Amino acid sequence: MSETWTVLKVLQWTANYLQQAGVDNGRLDGELLLAATLGLDRVGLYLNYDRPMEPAELEGFREFVKRRARREPLQYILGTTEFWSLPFKVTPAVLIPRPDTEILVEEALKRADDAPSILDVGTGSGAIAVALAHELPAAQVVAVDCSPEALAVARGNATLNGVDGRISFQEGDLFALESAEYDLVLSNPPYIPVADIPTLMPEVRDHEPRGALVGGEDGLEAYRALARQAPTLLRAQGWLLVEVGIGQAEAVAELLETAGLGHIAVRADYAGIPRVVAGQKP
Ligand SMILES: C[S@@+](CC[C@H](N)C(=O)[O-])C[C@H]1O[C@@H](n2cnc3c(N)ncnc32)[C@H](O)[C@@H]1O
Repeated sequence: MSETWTVLKVLQWTANYLQQAGVDNGRLDGELLLAATLGLDRVGLYLNYDRPMEPAELEGFREFVKRRARREPLQYILGTTEFWSLPFKVTPAVLIPRPDTEILVEEALKRADDAPSILDVGTGSGAIAVALAHELPAAQVVAVDCSPEALAVARGNATLNGVDGRISFQEGDLFALESAEYDLVLSNPPYIPVADIPTLMPEVRDHEPRGALVGGEDGLEAYRALARQAPTLLRAQGWLLVEVGIGQAEAVAELLETAGLGHIAVRADYAGIPRVVAGQKP
């Protein structure tokens, strides 16, 4: 007699398997992957613990679990994530938006008037641009990235969230941005020093786009370029706001100050880590 694989039994097996593969929260990831396979939410899963799984369901789920055991991020396997409580499609062409980046959106909203012009440099999935366009219905947003594949994902996310008419997606280079008079320039640029890449978790190191991670020798390359260009990107009293990595806030604040920006402010994330640096053009 062949063994019956119920939902609960599959979950227990998966949690153990993923834990052995070094995945944190293997049980939770298993639940989310199984819920996606069965077209249920997690509560639906709990209500179906005793349900036997069909061979075709087991086969599809096995593929998901194999990918997660190879440390592919859950969000790439599901193809979706949430940022600013909005849905975003994600593919390996874009960095998976992080909750920390919501701090950057919060700080931008504090400094935005009703109809600001906004530049998002290195838009990736479009997380920052889409969240701001969603919050500020009269904003005009330009979102730049050097990756055409990322821009295609970002455009899809603007459509998904009903803001596609108000974001202009442009291929461009953060080291050579066109002069303008934006009210707000925002960026979560690549900021990891190249020598630190081998120390990252496999999910990040082996699966997220290298171009979204590496910020040159010391991780500060993009900030130097953004600080240098800030005076020709912003109107008077406009703000540059950047997300920074752990331990970078002081150096970035200094770069902004040296570039002639004032009212330099640093905002910590909810873990107390300085995460956003802002400076205002005089
Ligand atoms: C850390 S990711 C941030 C993505 C998104 N803004 C977010 O916060 O989730 C950095 C982004 O900058 C883009 N990028 C890297 N180098 C660039 C360059 N020289 N010019 C324009 N964009 C660049 C990458 O393609 C990537 O999408």
